[in-house]
This record gives sequence, structure tokens and C-alpha cells, in this order.
Amino acid sequence: MALEAETQAIVDQFEFSDDDVNRAVKEFLRQMDEGLRKDGTSLSQIPTYVTAVPNGSEKGLYMAVDLGGTNFRVCSIQLLGNNSFRHTYNKVAIPKHLMVAKTAQELFAFLALEIKKFLQEHHNEDFEHHIRRRMTVSAPEGFRDEHIFRMGFTFSFPVKQVGINKGTLIRWTKGFDIPDAVGKDVCALLQEEIDKLHLPVKVAALVNDTVGTLMARSYTSPNKHGSILGAIFGTGTNGAYIEKLSNLKKGLAGEYDDTTGHMVINTEWGSFDNQLNVLPTTKWDDALEKGSINPGYQMYEKRVSGMFLGEILRLVTLELHNNPNVSFFKDENSSFNDRGSVTVIDRDSPLYKPWGVDTSIMSTAEADHDPELSALRQSLEKDLKIYAPAYEDALAFKRISHAIGRRAARLAAVAIAAVVIQTGKLDDPELLGEEIDIGVDGSLVEHYPGFRSMITEALKITEGIGESANRIKIGLTQDGSGVGAALIASVAASMEKNTSNVDYIGE
Ligand code: GLC
Repeated sequence: MALEAETQAIVDQFEFSDDDVNRAVKEFLRQMDEGLRKDGTSLSQIPTYVTAVPNGSEKGLYMAVDLGGTNFRVCSIQLLGNNSFRHTYNKVAIPKHLMVAKTAQELFAFLALEIKKFLQEHHNEDFEHHIRRRMTVSAPEGFRDEHIFRMGFTFSFPVKQVGINKGTLIRWTKGFDIPDAVGKDVCALLQEEIDKLHLPVKVAALVNDTVGTLMARSYTSPNKHGSILGAIFGTGTNGAYIEKLSNLKKGLAGEYDDTTGHMVINTEWGSFDNQLNVLPTTKWDDALEKGSINPGYQMYEKRVSGMFLGEILRLVTLELHNNPNVSFFKDENSSFNDRGSVTVIDRDSPLYKPWGVDTSIMSTAEADHDPELSALRQSLEKDLKIYAPAYEDALAFKRISHAIGRRAARLAAVAIAAVVIQTGKLDDPELLGEEIDIGVDGSLVEHYPGFRSMITEALKITEGIGESANRIKIGLTQDGSGVGAALIASVAASMEKNTSNVDYIGE
């Protein structure tokens, strides 16, 4: 009984009511507007210099690389021009020591080497051709005649973009921490290492994963009006949407094509409400904050995304386990301990390691509808080293996990609702009754059961959306960092067509 009451008390603290949702949407809209007016705001609203989304007819062979989480991906993409594409890719885990390397050069040299391996493995002819040309042709001054791949560089961290392939790192997120790179142009850092290896590759576009997702969705999605938002709910969370240029009041440094009247904005909504005007904060959120490498930043992300939810769950679980008034993952009948109670948690359990609990156990808990909760109990034993967990304890764990996941989904709805309202699409007379399309990617939307339906449920109670929530189509869009980045590289290509005499591959 005590366990049930304590569990309920915890669950209540993660409640994010309909009123809370509505208040937060208003604040999100206010912070969006603020970010469009000036620099240095908590919602950065970064202009991407991408002023058009694809329509599916784009063609060509491009390369793309993706740095943004636990893996580095290198791929080549053949855009076929009929809403489809073919791709080949390599994926490698980023060594932990490089995520916190002393110099940026160490990390970027590793990336360049992976690009070289990929070219040798999958495009050896182009690679060899380039090397031969380098050795035999001495190009006249100002004329480079090389056989070169254009590459989209998906770099999913906050970057102050000053052109389609130029941008300086504002700060690291998601566990990366290389102070030397902050303030530097990440495209130049990568190009330098690529050039050291004499690779036939030009970093043509700098792409946030959310922008790539929006592009990929527009290319592959059948919606004739395209998509309005690309969002990631994975290790981190963020969104990029199409904004009217007239709403973008802060100055733009680089050149762009203004004929469409629109520009894709990378919101960096992970840092929505760093000042905590409306975000909910439990004591476990506070504890996580103190142990994080970027206190005061990414406050929304820390309540919504995969890197953090497991840690919140870990902190709650440990506290409940240590509560002397309840039996939770303790063996009351054990004779091992003179208090008549012994923990069934192994000393080596990830529960005792900060950031040790993988958020994926929340999906297992959510998906388990078995009357004995067998899958969850197996995972508690195998993944968390909690031996022979009792049914009641697993149930309490499941309820807490659900409360954390549900709060995350309702917060996710806040961002989506605000962007939809900001674009005015639901009220556009030309779109009456039509679907408003959104592309999403990331482990949470992909694997957490019911994440999208909890979002839709929260959208329905949002003022300004209501039943129109049914018109908002939230579609899973994978490979934003592949095909999406390739598409932006192709946009970059069309921008420089008239000024370049380099022989690029794929045109
Ligand atoms: C973090 C990064 C952001 C990225 C998001 C999703 O919030 O700052 O740039 O889009 O994670 O990967």
C-alpha cells in the first residue's frame, strides 16, 4: 500500500496539465518571436540560409556526413528525381575520448579519415581519378579542374550560421565537450582535414539534423503542400520550420536568395525557456541539472529527450528504493540482513552510475501489457541488474516511467503546437480541411509506444488548434541527415552554378 501511495505522489509531480500546456504554448510563441528579433535569446531561431524546400524532382549524386549523437555516418546519395533516392553508407561509433578531446583537430581528423575509408570502399574509381588528376594536371592560376563530390555536413549542435556552408559553433550539447572548437567554423575545420588527406570532397552545406529532416520529408512525402516542420525527438530534441522572411527581423550576414519570401529557421528549441518561466521542475530535474555538463542550458531538452529521460528515471528509482517507508526492489523475506530487508539491486547496477540507465527501458516498460509484466521484469534483471524483481515493484517502475514519458510527450506537443500556430497554416483558406505535414525522427518517436498519440492528444486541448489536431500529420521521416543533407548540398550547388568552374560529380 505504501508503495502505491508513494508511487502516486511521484506520478503527480510529473503531471503537466492542459492549462500548463496552453500557458507553455503562449510562452513558446513569445520566445520564438523574440529569437526572430535579436541574437542571444534562449530560443536561438537560427537562420539557415535555406530558402526553398525540394519538390521531389531534384537529381544528382552527393555525399553526406552526419555528426550529432553517438555515431558518425558517411554516405553517398543518388537523388533519382522521382521522390526517391538510393544510398550507400558506413556508420562508426564515435570513440568516447574524441567527444571530449583537447583539440577540435583530433575529432575532425578522425571524421576525415572515415570519409577517406568510405570513398576507397564505395567510390574507388572517383577517388583514384582524383588522385591521378592531382598528379598529372597542373591547373592554371585561378582555375581548378577537379572531379569533386559536394558534401552536406549534418552537424547537429547549435551553430551560428553565416552562410550555407559556414557557421561557428555556439556551444556543445548531448555529451560533447571540446572547448577548443567553440567559436570556430565547423565546415572549415572539416575541410582542412579533408584537404590534408587530398580527398575529392567539398563541404558544400552545413546542415542541422532538423533541417535535413524537413528537407527529406518534403522530398519523399506525398503531401502536395510540402512540410512545415522537421523535428527530432531522439538523444536531443530540436525543430526547424519554414518562416516568412518578413518576420525575421534580425540582420543576416550571408547571401541568400530572397525570391521565395521564406527561410528555414533552426529554432534550437532544446534551449526553450532556459529561464524556467513555464517549464515544470521537480527535484529530480534539479538533481539532473546539477550533474549535467551544461547547467542552465537545454532546459527543455533535459525534460524531453532520450539522453535525459533515463537519468530522471534513475534518480527517481534510486530515491524510492532508499525510502525507508516502502519496499521497492528490496527482498523483505530475506534472512541475509538483520533488518529483515536486503536490496535486490546488484552493486554494479547501472542505477548507481550517473547517466547509466538507457532510456530504451522506458519503451520496454511502456510496451509491456502482459499481466505478469514479464518483459519488463526480464529487462530490469538483465539491463539494470535488479534480481527477481517483484510484480508490484515492476508495476511501480512502469507507472513512474510512464509519467516521465507522458510529460515529455506533452512538452513535445507544446513546441509542435507553437510552430503550427506561428505558420498560420491551419487557418490558411487555401488549405481548408487539408493535412498539415510534419516530419519527425529520433529514437523516442520511433520506439516509445504512444509518443505520437500522446502528442496529438495534447494538441487537441491546445487553444488555436483543438479538433484541427486531426489535420496535423506527424510522419516518421528517416535519413534526414543523408538525403536531407544531400538536398541542401544540391541547393548550394544551384546557388553557385554561375560562379564556379569546378567539375563536380553528379550534375
Ligand atoms: C541538440 C542540438 C541540436 C540538434 C538536436 C537533435 O538539441 O543542439 O542542434 O538538432 O540536439 O539532434
